[in-house]
Amino acid sequence: MTDIKQLFSFEGKVIIITGAAGAIGGAAGHLFAYLGANVVISDLNEEGAKKVAADIEKESGKATLGIKTDATVETDLEILVGETLKKFGKISGLINNVGWGANTPIWGSNSDKMVKSYLLNTVGAYNLTRMCMPHLEIEDNASVVFSGSMVGVTPSPEFIEYSTAKAGLMNMVRSMAVVSGPKVRFNTVLIGSVDNGDSTLAAGYTKEMLEALSNMFVMKRRGAPIEIAYGMMFLMSDAARWITGIDLRIDGGGTYKSKMPTGDSH
Ligand SMILES: NC(=O)c1ccc[n+]([C@@H]2O[C@H](COP(=O)([O-])OP(=O)(O)OC[C@H]3O[C@@H](n4cnc5c(N)ncnc54)[C@H](O)[C@@H]3O)[C@@H](O)[C@H]2O)c1
Repeated sequence: MTDIKQLFSFEGKVIIITGAAGAIGGAAGHLFAYLGANVVISDLNEEGAKKVAADIEKESGKATLGIKTDATVETDLEILVGETLKKFGKISGLINNVGWGANTPIWGSNSDKMVKSYLLNTVGAYNLTRMCMPHLEIEDNASVVFSGSMVGVTPSPEFIEYSTAKAGLMNMVRSMAVVSGPKVRFNTVLIGSVDNGDSTLAAGYTKEMLEALSNMFVMKRRGAPIEIAYGMMFLMSDAARWITGIDLRIDGGGTYKSKMPTGDSH
């Protein structure tokens, strides 16, 4: 019988997580370190990244690296890869988790806003993955996971910049998957609405809007960050060795039932 615990051991692995001072990336950092990995906590928020890394190190006893990275700046991404190799000597896995999008009326966008969202939600993940590829290809069961969104697969006019960029991200992942096997696996977690504290409120939602949204989910609540991290864990693990190019939907049963509310009239 297969040793199930061994399938979910990340001992000896080095995993870079972007946007990891935030809710989902931070939860993933704690989980992978608990399972034995050395995690690199990368975020634009330097103080946040360093604090999350220090907390994880204290909790798990595993060495971590907390580093400031602007995912939209190529030189920052080069530094992230370089510092990871300098400290840990290898890259076994990558979680492209950075992303954010404001609630906007569909005709309220323009080139600048569209391109900025694309750079943050899609292009940064492309660049970092490209830089990590030579290091991933030489690792056993190397895996890259991306944070997708349910708004990337349903018409989402209230999120036109973000939903368009996330849709692009998800098809980019499929393209990466078909050319990178069998050496490196690529998958997306397709995320429903997750409680990330003030971040969604800053995107233009009120508590009342989020409560109404929760009631539309089959599971009658928003997700917890760790519930997304569990899916990331599965996709990165040895249990998923034959899985590449998929979108793993973790959305409380909400993608086809719910509609993100909008604060502006279209
Ligand atoms: N929370 C949700 O409801 C939800 C739903 C669907 C998809 N997602 C996706 O999941 C991922 C994580 O979301 P979260 O809820 O943890 O968000 P969060 O807002 O809690 O965390 C995002 C982190 O990204 C960082 N960041 C922002 N711009 C950056 C940049 N240019 N470079 C580097 N870091 C930057 C922020 O400082 C923050 O720490 C994102 O890709 C998001 O789009 C979240």
